Formats: sequence, C-alpha cells, structure tokens
Amino acid sequence: MKIVGLLKLTSALFAPSMISRVAAAMASENLFRLSSLGGLIVGQHFQGHSDAGERDTKPLKEAWGLRAGVYTPRQLVEGFAPLLDAVVFRLGTDPPNSKPARTQLLDNLAANLATDTRESTLRLVEPLDISRREIKDQANRIGKTLVQWARESSSKSFNPDMSLRSPCEGHLLTSSNVDLMFGNRAAPHLMQLFNEYMHQMVLLRDALLPFQNYQDVLIPVDRQARGIRHLEPGRSKFLAEVLTKHATQQGIMAYAKALLAPGLPSNAGAGYGFQYAHGTVLPAFLAGGSTPLHLLQYLPAKIDESATEVSFEYKYQDYYSVPRGEIPKGSPTPSSQLQSYPETQSTAIESAAIGVSNASKASSSRYLELRLELNNGKCTSVDLGQIARGHRYSYPIQNAPDKEITKYTPEYIVHDPLSILQSENGGLLTAQEGGVHVIPVEDSLIALALLGKLYPENVVLLPGNETLCKAESAGKGFEPKFVIWGGSKRGGIKGVFEQ
Ligand SMILES: *[C@@H]1O[C@H](CO)[C@@H](O)[C@H](O)[C@H]1NC(C)=O
Ligand SMILES: *[C@@H]1O[C@H](CO)[C@@H](O)[C@H](O)[C@H]1NC(C)=O
Repeated sequence: MKIVGLLKLTSALFAPSMISRVAAAMASENLFRLSSLGGLIVGQHFQGHSDAGERDTKPLKEAWGLRAGVYTPRQLVEGFAPLLDAVVFRLGTDPPNSKPARTQLLDNLAANLATDTRESTLRLVEPLDISRREIKDQANRIGKTLVQWARESSSKSFNPDMSLRSPCEGHLLTSSNVDLMFGNRAAPHLMQLFNEYMHQMVLLRDALLPFQNYQDVLIPVDRQARGIRHLEPGRSKFLAEVLTKHATQQGIMAYAKALLAPGLPSNAGAGYGFQYAHGTVLPAFLAGGSTPLHLLQYLPAKIDESATEVSFEYKYQDYYSVPRGEIPKGSPTPSSQLQSYPETQSTAIESAAIGVSNASKASSSRYLELRLELNNGKCTSVDLGQIARGHRYSYPIQNAPDKEITKYTPEYIVHDPLSILQSENGGLLTAQEGGVHVIPVEDSLIALALLGKLYPENVVLLPGNETLCKAESAGKGFEPKFVIWGGSKRGGIKGVFEQ
C-alpha cells in the first residue's frame, strides 16, 4: 500500500478518464500552474505589461523624475540612472590609474545596501531572531542584484545640467567618496544628485524586502512624489517594526500592499495575500522548494477575475478562539512497530487548485481554499490562510534543539491523512486526550493541507526518510503532538516542499 503523490502526467496517462480531462483542461484554459508543487493551479495566467512610463508623455515637473506607469525593479534602476550619469559626467575624465568615478560611486551604493558596514542604511547583525535574519538575508540578496543592475545599466539620455534639491537622508559616503564628491573635481549640486540616487535605490531595496522573487514584481508608479518617494511612510513603519521588535506577517503584508495596492486595507484583519491590477501576491511557501518564514511570492496570475483588487483573508481571524474539533480515531501502535516509514494505503491527488471559497462575502476580500480532488472520487478543501498559518507555526525537525532525548514515546497513534482532511468535525483538529499522533504522508500538498486542518500549536514536520525519534525533541514539550511524517524535507526556514 502506498500514497502516491499524483498529478504526475505519466501515471495520469494510464487512466483513460484522465486523458480526456487533461486534454480538456489544456485545450480550454489559460491556467496558471506552480511548477514545484506538482502543477498546483492558482487561477488564470495573467500577462502583465511593464511600460516603464512610456505612455506618460507629459513633461516632468523637475529635472529628474519617473513617469507614471508600471515598472519592473530593473526598469526602476534604469529610471534612476540619469541621476548617476549626470554626476559622473560632471566629475569629468577620470585621472589615469584611478578607479573610475562611476565604479567608486557604485561601490558606495553597495556599502549603503549592505547590512553590516559603517554606511549601511539597514544595519542588521547577528545575533538575530529568524524573522530578522530572513530580512537581513533578503536585504543582502536584493542589494547585490540592484548594484549589479546599476553597473550593467548603459547610459541612455540624461541632462548634464541637471540640478535638484535633495533633502539630506543621512546616507553616508565612504571616505574615498568624500574626497571625490567634495574635492576639486566636484561641484556642490552633484552631492544633491548623488544623494537622491542613493535614496531612490535604498527605497527600492527596502520596498522589495517582502518578496522572495523580488525581481518579478510589477510596480505601479504615479506622480505622487519624486521617483518612489511616495513609499517613505510605509517604509518607516515597516523598518521601525523590524528594528525595534521583529518582522511580522502583518507588517510584511501591509508593506507589500503599500507598494502594490495602497487602496486595499492593511489593518490586522486584512489577510495574508492579495490580488492587484498587475498580478497576485501570496505567501511564498506556495512556490514550493525551500520555504521561507514570512516572505511573499509575486505570481503573474488572477484568482478572482470578477475583481481587480481584493485581499485574501483568513477564514479564522483569531485561530485561538476557533472551536477545536477532535481528530478522527487513529490506530494505537507500539513504537517498536514504527522503526521506519510505514507502508500506507494508495490514494492519489487527481487535481489540485487554489480557488475562491463560496463562503466569501461580496466585498473587498475573499477566502481562498486549497482544493484537492482525490482518486477515490472525493474532494476536500482547506482554507489557504490557515495552511499559511499552520506552516508558519510548524516545527521542522531541523530547527529542533540538538539535545539528548531522555523520554521516548512507547506508543504512537497513527492516522490516515485522508480521514483527517475529510473530517467533518468543525474548527481546527486536536486531541483532547493528548498523545503523540503520527500522520504518514508522501505528498507535499497533503502535508500542507494537513497544516491547515490541525490546531497549529505543536505540529512537527518530519521527513519520510528520518526516524520518529527525531521528532521527540522538536515542537513543544507537551501533548498532544502531531507529527506529519513525510511530504517535506529538511531545509529552508520551514522545510522543503516539492514533488
Ligand atoms: C459551497 O459549496 C459546498 C460544496 O462545494 C456546498 O455544500 C455549500 O452549500 C456551498 N455554500 C454556499 C454558501 O453556496
Ligand atoms: C533524507 O534524504 C535527504 C535527501 O532528500 C538526505 O539529504 C538525508 O541525509 C536523508 N536522511 C537520512 C536520515 O537518511
């Protein structure tokens, strides 16, 4: 007996009923599928277009600015380039045997965007909690990419006589650049231009922090403020939280909305994702692979075609106060019989999709659910918000303290994952009597779906090729404990999910 992770076309081809279904789906639809979770369907594919302000032909109000339009992050870096180009041009020919001024100034930018230099604009150094370490790593990744793009960006047209007033933002120069910018090659207004360039780049780096695939995000810009200075209030709020406490899901969501969908509410009840005019943003664990803690994924998809902008809300706003249902009965099994991963019964997923729940009210928010169609003819659906929460609160064994195990569980209670997914017991499932509950799973999507069904307090993720004793020191030191055995691997902040 075996649980097979399906949606693998090879096995689908053997089932005649599936051939017509797959063919019909391919012929009629423009579905958006995630590549790493067995082709999980997330709405319709949406072909976004970034015009980089080409359609806005009105003159700019100042010597430099961005035209209204939709930009990729790289197009924004190119949009900032005239500021730097004008400075480099005015500094004149580089003396022989010296580092070119352009290189020196971009080295300065690299130091501003690093997280551990004297010139850092966002200084984050260890020891850090995992939420801030995630932001630090993100800041470094994005900073390197932006500097790389800036080094590669070829000078287009710029006004060599450009001049503007740039309020001091406290971005520091490296000592060699102090000599360059205040020495005899420079003129006072050049520092203003370079300051504006640094500030726009810093704003962009920070604005992209919430997104795992930051390079793909399509960003609307209007002429509210110079360049992307309209993002300053959202940035101050987000960074204050990160620097004084830690990063939270709600803070990251509010910041992502400030960038992409400022019209949507971003209060506490405003959910875990949203659709906006140029795509959809959902928690990045859905992209599969090594999963992060709080980061989001931009998807070129539309889930609700009846609306332009909607928030995706948790079905249970406050999971703690949701009624707790009892987990369906499992089989008590002595631990001696569970030395290795058990043979389990054959069930497969025929199709998996994320869709709008029919419980959604018509308003600016929707409930999404993960819908699994199983090969036993049954369907099951689980609130996506609760899955996201369950994933954030889960305990992958790699994060468990490496300590001597003194207490072994003599008997486990083994459960069939499908009986849990199909349980009609309302609310979030737990076990009043305590116990260590083991749910053997092979399919990543079933593991994720379970995270949305169980009360998310003491749920451990154990890879299928590891032994149950590894789960002893993971999670909380009390019962009930739920161990999802299989469906994930070690890695990432919250496990690796792929198939
Ligand atoms: C939602 O769909 C389920 C089955 O898919 C159905 O039982 C239920 O009545 C529907 N609810 C509403 C409000 O339409
Ligand atoms: C389990 O499999 C992973 C590869 O997916 C491997 O790196 C790891 O060492 C394996 N663990 C054990 C205990 O065999």
